[in-house]
Amino acid sequence: MHPDDLPDGLVVADETGRIVCFNAAAARLTGVTQADMLGLPLDAALPLQDLDGRRWWTLTDPYRGPAIRRGQPERNLLLPGGREVLVSARYVRDHPRGPVRRLVVALRGTESRRRTERSHVELIATVAHELRSPLTSVKGFTATLLAKWERFTEDQKKLMLQTVDADANRVTRLIAELLDISRIDTGRLEVRRQPVDITAAVRHRVEALIAAGTGADRFRVTVAEALPALWADPDKVQQILGNLLENAVRHGAGAVTIDVSPAVLPGARGKPDTEGTAVTVSDEGPGIPEESLGRVFTRFWRGNRRGGTGLGLYIVKGIIEAHGGLITVDRAPGGGARFRFILPVGMPAVLG
Ligand SMILES: Nc1ncnc2c1ncn2[C@@H]1O[C@H](COP(=O)(O)OP(=O)(O)O)[C@@H](O)[C@H]1O
Ligand SMILES: [Mg+2]
Repeated sequence: MHPDDLPDGLVVADETGRIVCFNAAAARLTGVTQADMLGLPLDAALPLQDLDGRRWWTLTDPYRGPAIRRGQPERNLLLPGGREVLVSARYVRDHPRGPVRRLVVALRGTESRRRTERSHVELIATVAHELRSPLTSVKGFTATLLAKWERFTEDQKKLMLQTVDADANRVTRLIAELLDISRIDTGRLEVRRQPVDITAAVRHRVEALIAAGTGADRFRVTVAEALPALWADPDKVQQILGNLLENAVRHGAGAVTIDVSPAVLPGARGKPDTEGTAVTVSDEGPGIPEESLGRVFTRFWRGNRRGGTGLGLYIVKGIIEAHGGLITVDRAPGGGARFRFILPVGMPAVLG
């Protein structure tokens, strides 16, 4: 591969600090001519300053600094003229404490980081907004009750307290979901695998929904005869099923059919296919409009529905992927939504 093919800037200096490589992206980021840079001393060719205006090469002193240093972490620095650039460096030594043989500097534009920062800001704004409406209601009802307790009938007071209770539950749930999301987004979601009886898990979730008031006649559970063993995180499997079934009941309509069958999980990136278990949840409701099918797994997407948080399916997908599985959505033959997920057998290698 040629250094000019790299998307990021790459500058390499030899053991004397003279530039031996200055790729096209580095020239573009710094606004200089590539060929002029070869042979120049690094600190002259790339006069970087930190945000306080101090000279970065003097600060870091790569050639004479402590010989245990292996480089510099990425930092936001300024080019002459004040242009920002993200810079990291690696000090290449022949042996661990030896002199620096090569200095490899990576340069990145700040746009992509700006984009991530913007998406964080948007997330915070959405979360603040989501928390505000239930809290406003909690505050409003408690203030009203405290100020005018005697003026309300028992039934009115009970109704208000029920609303407060529901809104407090909503906040608690939202926060639990946000914590799940932060674990998913940072790759910290832990999967504790043990043998899971997926059929029993499905029955358990169905019974919980029936106990909460959904008619028993709305559920149909079909289970294939021979299922492979399944090693998964039992709590998380409950969470997946709970979300999908609740969605089918709440956003769907009619009969909710849950099918459990063996399935083949296609191997990603050249890996072999693996055996697994597929669970399909379909309903007879309005389904998800064709043009929105690609968006259902994004956070906060809830179509034109009220009430939910729009985080459930994002979390479901995150949990399934943390198990090495996959989830898809399409339209059931009868018109409703159909979600299908496959979990790999997941047996620990020591038992395989
Ligand atoms: N079975 C379903 N039928 C129709 N729409 C659905 C179904 N499941 C999910 N959806 C749509 O997907 C959106 C996102 O679902 P989800 O992430 O679980 O969030 P929430 O349930 O909190 O709204 C829902 O708001 C709804 O519009
Ligand atoms: Mg949901």
